[in-house]
Amino acid sequence: MLKPDAVKRRLAGEVIGRFEKRGLKILAAKMMVINKELAETHYGEHAEKPFFKDLVDYITSGPVLATVIEGEECISMIRKMVGATNPQEADMGTIRGDYAIDTGRNIIHASDAPDSAKREISLFFDESEICEYVLPDEELIY
Ligand code: TYD
Ligand code: MG
Repeated sequence: MLKPDAVKRRLAGEVIGRFEKRGLKILAAKMMVINKELAETHYGEHAEKPFFKDLVDYITSGPVLATVIEGEECISMIRKMVGATNPQEADMGTIRGDYAIDTGRNIIHASDAPDSAKREISLFFDESEICEYVLPDEELIY
């Protein structure tokens, strides 16, 4: 998910482009403004953390671009491409390392495990919004 700062800074296409160029497949993409309730559910694991309120305020502060991205081992691959949670610790060449400075404005969310991906996808998308298709170059990638 491209967070509101990514959308407002016009970085959404650039970031999605990195995933496309890597060979991953975009199955769904949707601009939406997340309401407080959905934000609190999405980030439920952090409900007791001191940064929770700021996090919910931030993620609801403007439109996000929610996506579903598919590929072999794509969760760990995308987490690696995203970089460390604190952009100041993120390696150069990662998305957060290249485009962000502050943990509270780190431009992108990425699911961290198959279970959380499944849960998060179902929070943001109906099944009918997720496209199944074959890319013409899939045999070159796998
Ligand atoms: P977390 O799930 O730990 O990081 P990630 O996004 O890399 O999976 O935390 C969720 C978000 O909460 C994180 O992207 C930014 C915010 N956050 C803070 O604002 N302060 C903090 O100290 C941490 C750990 C996270
Ligand atoms: Mg996380």
